[in-house]
Amino acid sequence: MNGFEIHDTEMGERIMETLEAIRTRRSVRRYTSEQVAPEQLEVVLRAAMQAPSASNSQPWAFIVATDHKLLNEIPKFHPYSQMLFSAPLAVLICADDSYVKKPGRWMLDCSAATQNMLLAAHEIGLGAVWLMIYPDSERIRRIKDLFGIPEIVTPVNLIAIGHPDEHPLPEDRYKPERIHYERW
Ligand SMILES: Cc1cc2nc3c(=O)[nH]c(=O)nc-3n(C[C@H](O)[C@H](O)[C@H](O)COP(=O)(O)O)c2cc1C
Repeated sequence: MNGFEIHDTEMGERIMETLEAIRTRRSVRRYTSEQVAPEQLEVVLRAAMQAPSASNSQPWAFIVATDHKLLNEIPKFHPYSQMLFSAPLAVLICADDSYVKKPGRWMLDCSAATQNMLLAAHEIGLGAVWLMIYPDSERIRRIKDLFGIPEIVTPVNLIAIGHPDEHPLPEDRYKPERIHYERW
């Protein structure tokens, strides 16, 4: 028993433990043509909004994008986003300055939400990958133009999501030498 097993619930439904999801999540950049169901999308968005945030400010706002007229524009200015051509949807995680309580925290809050989304997507059998928008000023500007985002809102990350058409294996990245005890 190492805490990484998948257990059966009393209802006989298979669920993934948190640690198992963390251990096995990988970026998925190839997707089948199957659409993401609205209920699946809700699971992912609920996970996002469940994230911790500084002063519980929850500064996030989301754009769910399925229109490939827009999505296919992104690889023209974001060099590592080719998977968007085949992703059935992408979710843009934004920071809305009207909810920000203390400056300088929103990118951390939005990144916590982003990681929750990746884990939730993986847990329910979807594949996803994190595409960085902030702090690249050109990406921010182009994404804002493309999606009509108001001045006080900053796009932070974009997540491509779909049914996986590749299954990258887990990687053990534990490096005990990176850990310092008590003092550096
Ligand atoms: C801040 C950040 C930016 C990233 N940007 C991209 C990106 O633009 N394109 C991409 O394909 N993957 C991107 N990734 C995914 C990383 O490449 C990936 O997480 C890393 O290689 C580890 O692989 P894994 O996610 O499969 O564990 C990004 C991840 C993070 C955290």
